[in-house]
Amino acid sequence: MPDLATLGQEKSNLIKALQEQQKEEGYISDQAIKDISREFDMAPVEVEGVVSFYTQFKRVKPGKYKIQVCDGTACHIKGSKLVLNWAQDHLGIAEGETDEEGLFSLDAVACLGCCSLAPVISINGKVYGDLTRKKLLKILQDYRAREEDE
Ligand code: FES
Repeated sequence: MPDLATLGQEKSNLIKALQEQQKEEGYISDQAIKDISREFDMAPVEVEGVVSFYTQFKRVKPGKYKIQVCDGTACHIKGSKLVLNWAQDHLGIAEGETDEEGLFSLDAVACLGCCSLAPVISINGKVYGDLTRKKLLKILQDYRAREEDE
């Protein structure tokens, strides 16, 4: 019979390795799945199973600009779902996706800690609040324009 304590320790080490990987690259790539499965002497499909079980792990490479739409309580009440829809329509991607250019990725997240500014988004950690559709689109267009100038 397998030693449950050892199995538990191995799983916790596996999760730590995946967390480290995600911290480095921002997601869990196919190559990372292969490397980690080799390291832990597991089938890639087993590692894939662990990754898909925990919502903290992302399999999609994030964009250069990581947009987080707050869906905490205050933002939810003030229309975070609309903000997410506006961003999705404008960028042509769904929540959890990255656009084809690899410029923007979009995620809904828990409270960003600026509830008095609800509804709020952050882009690479910079917070934008009191959003309206017009304000959001202007912010996104400014990022795109900045990119085209570079
Ligand atoms: S609920 Fe959105 S910042 Fe707190």
